[in-house]
Amino acid sequence: MTEPIRWGILGTGNIAHQFARGLADTADAELVAVGSRSIETANTFGDEFSIPRRHASYDELAADDGVDAVYVSTPHPFHKDNSILLLEHGKAVLCEKPFTINAGETKEVIDVARQRDIFLMEAMWTRYVPAVVRARELIAAGAIGDVRMVQADFGFRAGVNPEGRLFNPDLGGGALLDVGIYVTSLASMVLGPRPAEVVSTTQIGETGVDEQSAMLLKYPGGELAVLSCAVRTGTSVEARIFGTEGSILLHSPFFKCDALSVKRGGDEEHIDLPLEGNGYNYEAAEVGHCLRAGLKESDVMPLDETLALMELLDSIRAQWGLTYPME
Ligand SMILES: NC(=O)c1ccc[n+]([C@@H]2O[C@H](COP(=O)([O-])OP(=O)(O)OC[C@H]3O[C@@H](n4cnc5c(N)ncnc54)[C@H](OP(=O)(O)O)[C@@H]3O)[C@@H](O)[C@H]2O)c1
Repeated sequence: MTEPIRWGILGTGNIAHQFARGLADTADAELVAVGSRSIETANTFGDEFSIPRRHASYDELAADDGVDAVYVSTPHPFHKDNSILLLEHGKAVLCEKPFTINAGETKEVIDVARQRDIFLMEAMWTRYVPAVVRARELIAAGAIGDVRMVQADFGFRAGVNPEGRLFNPDLGGGALLDVGIYVTSLASMVLGPRPAEVVSTTQIGETGVDEQSAMLLKYPGGELAVLSCAVRTGTSVEARIFGTEGSILLHSPFFKCDALSVKRGGDEEHIDLPLEGNGYNYEAAEVGHCLRAGLKESDVMPLDETLALMELLDSIRAQWGLTYPME
């Protein structure tokens, strides 16, 4: 590939707009195609972002030979089929979080990617923002000693819309899949993907999905993660990582934080790391980097970890007795 990586976007909703803006700030990337369920929305989106090829179906986008990588931005229940469709047409796939509805679906997608030797990645954009990259580097360098505890919360107060994807069980509604994945993914990044014990409780709202939840994870070495998520309660949206020699605060909102504070002994260092672009550019750059290097997955968000995280979310939902109609 000598030209910039040629991107397509599948679905034209809220986050597709954000990602398209992020791509405009990504070196080595060009947005060349969009696929929608209707040509009208494809054209409207195409006009907004000056996209040359607009497709009236996801199948047409998948069959577009002029596309290298596609960003999947549909509601969660469609991630599996959309990703498999693209992989079967040889397209590299960056799929929104949560990767699918459950671990069984995730495994199906990963199996197709591996059988066909095609690049696949969960769009956990938090992992690539500079402040989070710096936090990983500091932890790896022993700056806060041995990590003993992670605390993270992600909650916001949305109005209840029974039809919308946040509250509708048919669209995989609920806080855990929408934002609980951020706090569990952060814990996984720091403490590993496989806690030894998981204890959780939730409040199920009027539409039958989880509105706020607390999760306690205990790891084999005794490390703890104290996590919460909510779609009806605004919380501080911070993450703290405590070690034997100090701590790191990822400032709010931690999922796209632009500053961290590092405490060691009596000292506190504030480090500003502003986002360049809207933040989605970093995950797009990671895809480009991997494709250029001939990699089939990212070592920052590996597929086995994506699968382990979906298994964790499944086990949390099992404790609540929450299943979705499509399961
Ligand atoms: N990374 C982040 O920061 C972030 C933020 C928000 C959301 N997300 C994730 O992105 C995904 C989409 O969220 P969103 O807020 O962008 O959703 P949204 O605004 O509802 O848009 C979803 C798009 O998916 C397509 N779609 C296909 N089948 C659909 C169906 N049956 N019902 C509704 N839409 C359907 C539609 O595009 P067409 O009409 O063009 O086909 C629609 O515009 C979710 O998995 C969510 O978790 C990630």
